[in-house]
Amino acid sequence: MLSPVQLQELKKIAGADNILDDPDSFEKYGQDWTRFYKPAPSAIVFARDPEQLQRIVRFANHETLALVPSGGRTGMSGGAIASQGEIVVSFEKMNRILSFDEVDQTVTVEPGVITQTLQEYAVDKELYYPVDFASSGSSQIGGNIATNAGGIKVLRYGLSRDWVAGLKVVTGAGEQLELNHSLVKNATGYDLRHLFIGSEGTLGFIVEATIRLTRLPDSLVVTLLAVPEMTDVISILTEFRKEVELTAFEFFSDKALTHVLRRTDLVSPFEDSSDYYVLLEYENADNAAQESAMQAFEACVAAQWVVDGVVGSSQQQNQNLWRYREAISESITPYTPYKNDISVRISQVPEFLKMIEQSVVEQYPDFEIVWFGHIGDGNLHLNILKPESWAIEDFRRECESVSEGVLGIVAQFKGSISAEHGVGLLKRDQLHYSRSEHEIELMRSLKRVFDPNGIMNPGKLLPAPS
Ligand code: MLT
Ligand code: ZN
Repeated sequence: MLSPVQLQELKKIAGADNILDDPDSFEKYGQDWTRFYKPAPSAIVFARDPEQLQRIVRFANHETLALVPSGGRTGMSGGAIASQGEIVVSFEKMNRILSFDEVDQTVTVEPGVITQTLQEYAVDKELYYPVDFASSGSSQIGGNIATNAGGIKVLRYGLSRDWVAGLKVVTGAGEQLELNHSLVKNATGYDLRHLFIGSEGTLGFIVEATIRLTRLPDSLVVTLLAVPEMTDVISILTEFRKEVELTAFEFFSDKALTHVLRRTDLVSPFEDSSDYYVLLEYENADNAAQESAMQAFEACVAAQWVVDGVVGSSQQQNQNLWRYREAISESITPYTPYKNDISVRISQVPEFLKMIEQSVVEQYPDFEIVWFGHIGDGNLHLNILKPESWAIEDFRRECESVSEGVLGIVAQFKGSISAEHGVGLLKRDQLHYSRSEHEIELMRSLKRVFDPNGIMNPGKLLPAPS
């Protein structure tokens, strides 16, 4: 908690114009999209440049004050929550695109640049930034890197990690480091850049990132398939992969679609509903891919894995098809969903699904379950909706307790308890399902190296030692 004297000192160090300390700002900046915690920061500071941030970090070390890095606050695991009187450090005002290199095909940005701004900038340069998700209009690059955000194109293009050519960071000890200098080849020992990617603000702050871009995809074709059995989706994936280069392969349940139809102006995509749907996308370079995709479709229909399909025949239709999938998250938000964001190896998805489905039916008889996710890369979003009559705290506790069954199965498959949403506060005490005690202890040791006084996002990601 910040004392009045410390607040005055912070204003001198960071610039009084860069500090907010009113209740509305605490409410706004003290939380992310997770709805299970009450925001209670003691100040909001706007980072303006690496040197100002270094001064803030040194002050925080001197006074032992906790700092919470904050980007677009679109996180779903509470990584950007400040509920214990922490100081929130917002990157909203460090949002400039600094430079572009045509030869390297890289763009250097401040961390507060919005994902969509970077995507549009790349297109202006006739290039492509392929990391994409429904929150691209508000998520920020710094936050994406800090959580190694995934999204809808991972199957083809990988995660945020795969596009970071170089990073500038300020560690929890207040040191500035330039990591990898955007080199393609650099065999000089530990790559500290990758430690910061996915560290969820527990080691330091990302203050600049150089991002690789790639060629723009050729025209894309989007197809929506009606699929009766969830366990057939990987057979469908395999069949299509034989024929075309997929850029996305998503799935969702009819319950998810029902919520989308209720909350948007979209109409039902098929005359008859199906229990599940697959949305896939591929590049149609020379118009040959569409014919190959049709062969895959016919094979899937013959095998009775697919009962109907619709193909987007214009960019507008493609976008409309994507909306069925991308509108799910916001459509279920009013139900305060408890999100299990789990993954296993792609080859294990069918067997995993059989076990999970059975466990879910047994463990959540009273809750509505909504399935969707990036099944082509092994990532499933299992959302449990809060019944109106339940208090948030009771609901979270109940979900945590009954999720043990699901997480036990994830552990059995050596899967991940957080495929792309990060660990933050919400999944911290479940980390042991995916990481061994020895690994967690090594992570704690690494944190001590970069953040000796434990001021960086304390309580997030790493469970307290037992
Ligand atoms: C998505 O896949 O839509 C995002 O991860 C958001 C969510 O899971 O709610
Ligand atoms: Zn997702």
